[in-house]
Amino acid sequence: MGGAVSAGEDNDDLIDNLKEAQYIRTDMVEQAFRAIDRGDYYLDAYRDSAYKDLAWKNGNIHLSAPCIYSEVMEALKLQPGLSFLNLGSGTGYLSTMVGLTLGPYGVNHGVELHRDVVEYALDKLDYFIKNSDSFDKFEFCEPVFVVGNCLEIATDSHQYDRIYCGAGVQKDHENYMKVLLKIGGILVMPIDDQLTQITRTGQSNWESKNILAVSFAPLVQQSRGDGEKAPDSVQLPPVTVRSLQELSRVYIRRTLRSLAPDDDQDKSAPRVPQKRKRRRCRRRRINTYVFVGNQLIPQMVDSEGEDHNEEEHSKEPEEEAEGEERDIGDIEIIKQVNLLRDQILALPLPEPLKAYLLYFREK
Ligand SMILES: C[S@@+](CC[C@H](N)C(=O)[O-])C[C@H]1O[C@@H](n2cnc3c(N)ncnc32)[C@H](O)[C@@H]1O
Repeated sequence: MGGAVSAGEDNDDLIDNLKEAQYIRTDMVEQAFRAIDRGDYYLDAYRDSAYKDLAWKNGNIHLSAPCIYSEVMEALKLQPGLSFLNLGSGTGYLSTMVGLTLGPYGVNHGVELHRDVVEYALDKLDYFIKNSDSFDKFEFCEPVFVVGNCLEIATDSHQYDRIYCGAGVQKDHENYMKVLLKIGGILVMPIDDQLTQITRTGQSNWESKNILAVSFAPLVQQSRGDGEKAPDSVQLPPVTVRSLQELSRVYIRRTLRSLAPDDDQDKSAPRVPQKRKRRRCRRRRINTYVFVGNQLIPQMVDSEGEDHNEEEHSKEPEEEAEGEERDIGDIEIIKQVNLLRDQILALPLPEPLKAYLLYFREK
């Protein structure tokens, strides 16, 4: 699925295009997308394709298109401290972006069918924590992944404030998904070829809104032969209370961050301009890409209900296919400096304590 915006050269380019096309509409979502490089979730050999608005599949590893993730992040209306469950959590790309918005007091769980995909996600998470400056810039709610079929979650499981399902849900499973939600919570899932936002408004009441026409691979059903016993149900990770030591670390890092000059407001903060370049921004009609074997087959689809797509519908298809190029001028790319790290290293504290405050990160 995807192809709604033109290809970028790097992650910032991709986010600029998603913003320009109104898939990203809020600052919080923009910041989360900029903080995580989509290329880091690709295998190295395919990294160059990561900044196109396309789904990507290699073996069991499967990422949805960036325009889908933008709509999902917007529709989830995330806030610090909420609990989030990702059904079909895949590479952990979405769960990591969500973790940046939930902050240290949130809950961030994922269920993924394939063990090799969970291992891949844990490698990517480890890389993010060890290497990304975003880890110091944001307060992070680290995702916890379990292997299992998300259609077999134990019936006595806790409920969540926000849920996303990353694979197509059959109508039969709609209620199963809805009861995992707390009252007041929001569930986003593809059902009947529509990305749908469902809000639980009461014990037995839900409100539904279609966000976007989509085509997702369906959730894998549990295959069971005649007379075969039902598999063990999937236990979700426990919701644990943080230790006093962890809370102190969060508090100290937060205090140091608040003392640091604000990057956006203090223009005297050290910044290193890297390059200036002229971008051209292209808008297209939305395509979905359907997997047939290992091939991505483009299909034109209509998007429903959202203002930002109406403009696209009103144009001639030929014109859309060609795309519209608009010069949006010069942009200065700024390299951020990791101030928090510098502040911690300058504290008059024993080295092991500084290492703990840095989450033992060497970068
Ligand atoms: C499009 S991918 C989601 C990718 C994910 N959003 C990410 O950020 O990488 C869909 C995922 O759902 C998983 N999946 C499919 N059926 C499942 C099931 N019944 N239970 C758990 N995971 C399932 C697939 O293995 C795949 O990783």
